[in-house]
Amino acid sequence: MNWRFKALAFRALDLPGGAQAHYFLQRHVTKNWPRRASTLDSLLGIARRVTDDFARHAGGSPATVLEVGAGRDLAVPLGLRRLGVGKVIASDVIRLAKLDLIQHAADHLLADGVKFQHWDDLERFGIDYRAPHYATANDEKVDCSCSNEVLEHVPPEQLVELLTGLRAVTSGITTHSIDYSDHYARSDRRISRLNFLRYSDADWAKYNSGMQYVNRLRHSDYLRLFKEAGFKILEESSVLGDPPADLAVVEKFRSYAPSDLYAVKGRIVAG
Ligand SMILES: C[S@@+](CC[C@H](N)C(=O)[O-])C[C@H]1O[C@@H](n2cnc3c(N)ncnc32)[C@H](O)[C@@H]1O
Repeated sequence: MNWRFKALAFRALDLPGGAQAHYFLQRHVTKNWPRRASTLDSLLGIARRVTDDFARHAGGSPATVLEVGAGRDLAVPLGLRRLGVGKVIASDVIRLAKLDLIQHAADHLLADGVKFQHWDDLERFGIDYRAPHYATANDEKVDCSCSNEVLEHVPPEQLVELLTGLRAVTSGITTHSIDYSDHYARSDRRISRLNFLRYSDADWAKYNSGMQYVNRLRHSDYLRLFKEAGFKILEESSVLGDPPADLAVVEKFRSYAPSDLYAVKGRIVAG
């Protein structure tokens, strides 16, 4: 689908009733939900990376984990419980999760026939779903905090508050996987994963709607923000994309080193 048309459609979905329409389209037209087995396996891999990061830097297994931006089927929280985390606080700024999607993910990720018919069942299972909720310093302390493909959706000024909050509540480590790419490239193969670097803030604002908002921060910006929030970086890595030969980067991005600017995903572990 032409990415500009998709951006326009997302703008229409910002209107009242748009969130429900978005979910309907994702479920019945693009069929993104319920998730495929292979995707759920990858998300179990993300949960495993969180517990591995914790073991490597803090030692042992975290008793409590806070995940921000938990999404629709809570696959990572389910994976964390499967891996032995005692309690997972799954928070999100929008109440996206659906019990039937959680059940679908659980049927694949948990072998023991756990049933989630009511939200209380989830709580009893050890997942405290808090949405809508903005994680702040007032939240309860946890051993570990994490996110997967969330931080790129947080506006910069909110990100400062979020990281400050995570610093205050995290006693062990915080670990994050971030997608730095132009998300419209997922459904429009004619553009590169770095296409959005062609646009000034004013021009990009036309395409950057509520549901598909991305902050376009680069890996070095995140490292700086984590440090400014009081974290020490324990591990960081990024994966370079392939910029097309004709990519004309706008002024805003010209001061970045190519290895930073062209990163399409990254990982940050801090404590
Ligand atoms: C791409 S989804 C990822 C969901 C889940 N982490 C996963 O991997 O399946 C992005 C998530 O970020 C959340 N999100 C968007 N803006 C946010 C913000 N300002 N603060 C925290 N989470 C946010 C969305 O509500 C959504 O759950």
